[in-house]
Amino acid sequence: MKDAIRNNFDASPDAYEAYERMSGRFGTLADRLYRAMSDRCAFPIETCLDAGAGSGISTRRLQAHGVTPIALDLSRSMLEENRANDRVQGDFDHLPFVADTFDSVAFTASLFLTPKPDRAASEASRVLRPDGVVGAVAPIGWMTPDGTDVFASLARQSRSPTSAEAVGDALRASFSVERGRWTFETTAEELRSLHSIPAMAARLYPRLDTDERVERARSLLDGIEGPLEQHWRWFVGV
Ligand SMILES: C[S@@+](CC[C@H](N)C(=O)[O-])C[C@H]1O[C@@H](n2cnc3c(N)ncnc32)[C@H](O)[C@@H]1O
Repeated sequence: MKDAIRNNFDASPDAYEAYERMSGRFGTLADRLYRAMSDRCAFPIETCLDAGAGSGISTRRLQAHGVTPIALDLSRSMLEENRANDRVQGDFDHLPFVADTFDSVAFTASLFLTPKPDRAASEASRVLRPDGVVGAVAPIGWMTPDGTDVFASLARQSRSPTSAEAVGDALRASFSVERGRWTFETTAEELRSLHSIPAMAARLYPRLDTDERVERARSLLDGIEGPLEQHWRWFVGV
């Protein structure tokens, strides 16, 4: 499973950045998550483990808020694009850090990618200093404005390895958690752009090769028209 996740993201940096240039979505999620974490934290956040930091979108947002990020990711190719001073290739289910190291741990669009998020949540708790704060965002789905799931009428579901509910359950086992929902108005073109990232097309066609899966995703989604909404669940725990 981890090899598949790593390989999928190793093929994804260019398409990932193209989606971000179009939507700004991951940067916005990172900003909002940081603010929610900062509001809940008893002290000013100086350090943050950016867990699943990828190509650096969340890392740059943390830096913009005056926080020193430590960027950790499974994927070497994603991490090579990340400009953080401290970058670590590793698995957030088995963190290579001693206890009480960070003020905060942020999982910006990453914790739902692991099949056993309880392991990562307990690792986050271990490496946080006392009263440190954890945050995570996980996708709920893409809907039409009347609340219909975009994928309901299609032959495929865009599934995460772990649902937003399971991410919340995992965090609640280690933290006192507050949660909420963020809704973004979006378009069918953004939906297609997200699923042209090889790691996201793998949600639809996990067994196909990179090029074929991206092409099949595009033709599956070709007939979708906007406007659409994208829903995310956020969690902050202390
Ligand atoms: C959707 S991207 C989000 C990247 C970044 N946080 C952002 O805001 O753009 C998810 C990232 O999580 C990483 N990831 C997935 N599972 C992981 C794990 N178990 N340990 C570390 N990184 C992981 C992927 O390699 C990918 O770069």
